[in-house]
Amino acid sequence: MKVIVIGATGVIGGAVAGALEAGHEVIRVSRGGTTRADLEDPASIDALFATVGEVDAVVCCAAGGRLAPLVSSSDEDFTHGLESKLLGQVRLLRRALEHVRDGGSITLTGGTFEKPTPGSAFGALVNAGLEAFVRAAAIEMPRGLRVNVISPGWVRETLEKLGMDGADGTPVREVARAYVEVVTGKARGEVVVPAAGHAGFERWQVTGDTPPDGERPFIA
Ligand SMILES: NC(=O)c1ccc[n+]([C@@H]2O[C@H](COP(=O)([O-])OP(=O)(O)OC[C@H]3O[C@@H](n4cnc5c(N)ncnc54)[C@H](OP(=O)(O)O)[C@@H]3O)[C@@H](O)[C@H]2O)c1
Repeated sequence: MKVIVIGATGVIGGAVAGALEAGHEVIRVSRGGTTRADLEDPASIDALFATVGEVDAVVCCAAGGRLAPLVSSSDEDFTHGLESKLLGQVRLLRRALEHVRDGGSITLTGGTFEKPTPGSAFGALVNAGLEAFVRAAAIEMPRGLRVNVISPGWVRETLEKLGMDGADGTPVREVARAYVEVVTGKARGEVVVPAAGHAGFERWQVTGDTPPDGERPFIA
């Protein structure tokens, strides 16, 4: 398969690109890399597809949010991530529909908070929005295309980079494994939560089954 990975210089994207490269052609993309695109700049996404041509899959592990207090943040700080992580991924998907081959896939990235955390309200909104978007968009995907979202909890390597205890985080190789399984498998309209200590990751079909109470594996 020919796969675009956006955010490929990041903690998650780097691991995902590396894992996919074991069996596939991977185009590594970020704002500062050799092949460039910016989720906040739709023209740069158009230019990316014009350069790369048709692909079998697009994986987005780019952008992100930041913790911002509900009370004291400016609107701009509070809604950081709206244009890139939320709307950027929505715009990316709509453009990718024209360039992913029949039966291919688009995989977005959300996130999972184990419980409400101070400063996480807008990030939680973005993640919930992405999950709702994928659930609804999946039934409108043309030509057998699949869309899914990976919603990791804290990644162990990220916690360690922040000088925190990584023990409760999911190792990035487990997170990357979830992406590979989604890209190479049949998942459609799913929210996938990679989880350490499980068989790679847990998932449930958003369209159809709902997870039994308490089964959603929150880890961060
Ligand atoms: N790490 C975690 O613990 C964790 C947990 C849950 C969810 N997530 C989510 O997973 C995603 C990736 O996280 P990460 O920790 O791997 O982030 P990261 O290490 O900061 O890497 C982000 C990547 O995205 C690229 N990027 C940033 N803004 C971009 C934009 N506007 N357009 C295109 N590329 C952009 C960066 O490269 P350039 O700066 O060169 O563009 C980099 O390659 C984020 O959405 C994050 O919220 C992460």
